[in-house]
Amino acid sequence: MPIIFDNVSYVYGEHTPFENKALDGVSFTIEDDMITGLIGQTGSGKSTIAQLCNGLYKPWAGTVTVDGEDINDKNNKKNKSKNFFRVGLVFQYPEYQLFEETVRKDIAYGPKNMGCSEEEIAIRVAEAARFVGISDENLDKSPFDLSGGQKRRAAIAGVIAMEPKYLILDEPAAGLDPNGRDDILTKLKQYQREKHTSVVIISHSMEDMANYCDRIIVLKKGGVYKCGDKNEIFSDPMALSSLGLSVPQITKLIYNANQYGVGINEPIYTVDAAYDAVMRLISGEEST
Ligand SMILES: Nc1ncnc2c1ncn2[C@@H]1O[C@H](COP(=O)(O)OP(=O)(O)O)[C@@H](O)[C@H]1O
Ligand SMILES: [Mg+2]
Repeated sequence: MPIIFDNVSYVYGEHTPFENKALDGVSFTIEDDMITGLIGQTGSGKSTIAQLCNGLYKPWAGTVTVDGEDINDKNNKKNKSKNFFRVGLVFQYPEYQLFEETVRKDIAYGPKNMGCSEEEIAIRVAEAARFVGISDENLDKSPFDLSGGQKRRAAIAGVIAMEPKYLILDEPAAGLDPNGRDDILTKLKQYQREKHTSVVIISHSMEDMANYCDRIIVLKKGGVYKCGDKNEIFSDPMALSSLGLSVPQITKLIYNANQYGVGINEPIYTVDAAYDAVMRLISGEEST
């Protein structure tokens, strides 16, 4: 069952001079067994949504339902801790939260707190390390001796090891070089495909969304601008651009070419797809 936001509003600093309505009547569904991208400009409410999903924040109005349960239902006190493990949240720059002597202990921290046996913990640590690509050798190092990219993986592994049914990652590729970002996002996609977890990737890069997400929720200033599958979202790249989102250059190029009658009908968001479509046009095949 999915995560459902029904008319959710959130206000920071209520009744203070800094009062700020960060979300205003937001409704959407995070579907099971796929990667959902949550995209919007800085300040559009992405991180606030992440924290509402696992119960760290309570809605000011509206409800957040996970697996059919209102996670803030006062009559169901068990819900809160259950939800904390059910919805795994990887914060932005999670590597700053590593603190144990070894990477292995850091990844084990969550499962240990859940009350897993030593044997179960060892299995989970090995599995999580495999998913994110941490070698055995690195598992016994201090997290502080790892490279930036490796630290990020260790922090993500710590959440994966809790085996959450939903995994939400706030800007998991932020600050990594292009190889590092592709690598981590590819690993997350493999993890989703293997585990059938619902994964939510928060980003402000349309390129990442295009390459790694199945469904996309676009936010605009605390509201939902559009939800849909990737093709629907990219069908109007100029509208996305006007929201300040970085639409892939290749998408804009093909869109503009189409305005001049080129006739590539499928949405294009990678250079490879553009190449294939152009080759098909040249060879006289119908564009799909
Ligand atoms: N702790 C906070 N106190 C007050 N305002 C905040 C706080 N965190 C976020 N905000 C405000 O809420 C809005 C949404 O922020 P956020 O959810 O962090 O957006 P995003 O993750 O998309 O950048 C912004 O206007 C931001 O300034
Ligand atoms: Mg944020």
